[in-house]
Amino acid sequence: PRQAAAAAAEEYRDIVAALPSKLPGTPQRMRLYQGSWFREDWVLGFVAIQRRFAPRDGDVVLASLPKCGTTWLKALAFATAARAAYPPGPALATAGGEHPLLRLNPHDCVPFMEAVYFAGDEARLAAAPSPRLMSTHASFSVLPASITDNPGCKIVYICRQPKDMLVSYWHFINRSKSNAMSFSDVWDSIREGTYFGSPIWEHILEYWRASQAMPDRVLFLKYEDIQRDPVKNVEKIAEFIGQPFSDAEKEAGIVGSIIDLCSLQMLKASGAKNAGFRRVVNVEVPNESYFRKGAVGDWVNYVTPEMAESLDKFLTEKFRGSGFTF
Ligand code: A3P
Repeated sequence: PRQAAAAAAEEYRDIVAALPSKLPGTPQRMRLYQGSWFREDWVLGFVAIQRRFAPRDGDVVLASLPKCGTTWLKALAFATAARAAYPPGPALATAGGEHPLLRLNPHDCVPFMEAVYFAGDEARLAAAPSPRLMSTHASFSVLPASITDNPGCKIVYICRQPKDMLVSYWHFINRSKSNAMSFSDVWDSIREGTYFGSPIWEHILEYWRASQAMPDRVLFLKYEDIQRDPVKNVEKIAEFIGQPFSDAEKEAGIVGSIIDLCSLQMLKASGAKNAGFRRVVNVEVPNESYFRKGAVGDWVNYVTPEMAESLDKFLTEKFRGSGFTF
């Protein structure tokens, strides 16, 4: 299968090489693919999933723009979906077990589909038992129709206040190998259409509209809402994926145990799991760079009120008439 993937990758490179590009000559080189701008090698992964992904009933895809709480959502969804095998809290420890999230990065528990296909590792997803959890940064319209038109597949999208997303991205990108970007380049990237997945308002609105049209197939979450009311949002996730918490589970405090297990402090706790780098498509990223501050409104420490107001105005225009607000 790896050889077949390599041969396919060759063909996909020709497709990608013909697409319009931005930021040529930089590690962030982007291509315009089906209406959105993505880092070049990610497009190879998207082409691969469009051509080769084989969906299964019960598949759940976690979708996001980078730096909107993907890692947190992965942890919460994984801990919720796997709670029969891995009960969070003292029960597992008493039985002599250890929760996977205590030894693995959430990105190991829920892989990016495009990264798996980019690496020719799709056998890993094929071997995973149902129901499978995976993730993507693809826009809704770039996801294979075999997922978006499939009543057996579900999608959970998470969005975040763009100003905090940008600050988070600046920290993150400057910690990955050979990817440095200035703060002003990152800050301007929404308007310039150089943020991953741009235009970001289309990325958000496509999933938001899908969630309005098909609420049983697309769940739309906000990072700030999860911060404000984690219990309600974890219960929402559980119901949406068809594994609602029973009264007995609620009484036993399992929702709280999941939230504690997936807290920033727990996930970032030192240990082998966050040592070293991981490869995501073509970028080497320190595992610990997924866990920073986890605050709402951290942007105030980085930009002036004028800069914030100007970006807010720009985005308000873009969302005008959609019915969507942050
Ligand atoms: P900050 O850089 O603002 O701290 P993503 O997972 O999409 O890459 O987003 C990373 C952002 O989510 C970072 O934001 C990171 O700190 C925050 N994050 C990661 N794990 C979290 C958790 N368990 N709870 C809350 N926020 C978390």
